[in-house]
Amino acid sequence: MSGPVPIANSLEDIYTRDALDTQTKRWNNLLSKFESTYGHQPEFVSRSPGRVNIIGEHIDYSLYSVLPMAITADTIVAVSTHLPAPKEGTFRIQIANVQDSKFKSREFDIPYDSVDIDATVHEWTNYFKSGLRGALELLRKKHGADFKPKSMQILMDGTVPAGGGLSSSAAFVTASALAVMAANGEQTVDKKELTELAIVSERAVGVNSGGMDQSASVFSERGSALFVSFTPTLLACPVSFPPTTPELTFLIAQSFVTADKFVTGPIHYNLRVVECTLAAAYLNAVLNPPGTLLPGDASPLGISLHGFHETYFALSEHNSGATSSKSITEQLEHLLELTKQTLTKEEGYTRSEIAAVLGLPSTSELDQKFTSRFPVRAERFKLRQRAIHVFSEALRVLKLMNLLETSSSSSSSSSSSSTTSTPEDLNSCLGALLNETQDSCREVYECSCEEIDRICAIARQAGSYGSRLTGAGWGGCSVHLVPADKVNNVKEALEREYYSKLELTEEQREGAVVVSKPGSGSALYLGGKEGLA
Ligand code: ATP
Ligand code: GLA
Ligand code: MG
Repeated sequence: MSGPVPIANSLEDIYTRDALDTQTKRWNNLLSKFESTYGHQPEFVSRSPGRVNIIGEHIDYSLYSVLPMAITADTIVAVSTHLPAPKEGTFRIQIANVQDSKFKSREFDIPYDSVDIDATVHEWTNYFKSGLRGALELLRKKHGADFKPKSMQILMDGTVPAGGGLSSSAAFVTASALAVMAANGEQTVDKKELTELAIVSERAVGVNSGGMDQSASVFSERGSALFVSFTPTLLACPVSFPPTTPELTFLIAQSFVTADKFVTGPIHYNLRVVECTLAAAYLNAVLNPPGTLLPGDASPLGISLHGFHETYFALSEHNSGATSSKSITEQLEHLLELTKQTLTKEEGYTRSEIAAVLGLPSTSELDQKFTSRFPVRAERFKLRQRAIHVFSEALRVLKLMNLLETSSSSSSSSSSSSTTSTPEDLNSCLGALLNETQDSCREVYECSCEEIDRICAIARQAGSYGSRLTGAGWGGCSVHLVPADKVNNVKEALEREYYSKLELTEEQREGAVVVSKPGSGSALYLGGKEGLA
């Protein structure tokens, strides 16, 4: 599914019919606001959506496969390059936001060869700058080191709730990088190149994230979920859920607990990335032959549990003279057992305990290697729990994919030998996997929160097959697998037992629970003959 980011000729290429009216108004508002801000029409608009993750939580940065899908809510970025160049050796960025009271306009003069991002401040334009930085690196690779970036006037509008677990950040970064590519004459932008640059460049804002969000935002196709794998190389494939009666829907319910990853990174998100990486190093030191180095990979800290996984089985097969005897599922089950036997300390491991096992002379070498770029605050690192979550969640993704494959092959053959003989059975099995993910996120990975747990309990009681947090967690959104005839039940129950107890605006209340159909990924809109409007 690689190839170039599609060029949209009309909004129908981007949105489903039911969204067209609202989106047309919104795009027209963007265009007229652009004109009133900058005095002329934009040349083009880039667009990238948010995503909801169906299964595979907190395993992308350990390089295990995940199953997200794009949603309708997105970031649109209108651009013009018609502004005079500032002083020699620099280009100018003027950037404004449709929500201008919340996100103030800015202007930057930037040297041709370096985009400075201050990750110590929480500033919305850092997300644009990180897309800019990544795109310029790619443009320099293509056109040589003395490439001169174009100045740009930008107006952005984002409808993905910020910090809501639906990846407003990746929608913004990928739309920004795409806009920079197009502004500099590249209208044919390779999806894989765009995704890879956005994955790396989003880390410049101070969150050491994986690659799921950017992949979902760029590669998604209308009507399909997306299976994303990260090794040996980034690959994204559309996945269909079987048609059932009643239809299976994905319901997204907000908790209205804002989880700001930038602010809580040192004790939540970035700490989990460090814990998983330390677990990989620790397991390697104890279980692989002395002196074994884990392979460098595309994970945020350069080594991963997936890297340990592959090395461990490659070496044990090599030593026993056998070739691959275990399926990936069996390998993961084996790793789960090994983890339980090896990482026995429920209370977690101190820096000195880990440094000693890794053969590092002191804890400062450990900090230097693992926590210097993204500082974390922890006395103990819960290696056991984090590795157990990652291996078990990777297994759940495979189980869910197997269920989908079995159901599609059994529905296309007349003699069904599937274990999930009815749609009801299949849906219950899919839902059970989502519920197991939520249990693991709550108990083992500790990334849920009381509000999300409550929402999941209410939804299951009202007819959801499976309910869980989606995205980073610690607040944000939840996803629910609900048969169409139970959607109203679930909505009403959530309203009665959760939302009515919060102080919400009319708009928040209306958007609190939405049925989400898999939407399309990034696109460039160059406008028709009559211009953009
Ligand atoms: P998750 O990563 O859990 O899926 P998220 O991506 O929404 O959720 P963050 O990664 O914390 O959450 O990114 C949120 C940040 O992205 C905001 O704090 C803001 O700086 C930026 N952002 C998101 N939407 C907008 C917007 N419409 N306008 C300006 N900045 C935005
Ligand atoms: C955030 C990150 C992703 C992923 C999820 C958790 O959304 O940006 O890379 O790690 O959390 O699955
Ligand atoms: Mg994000």
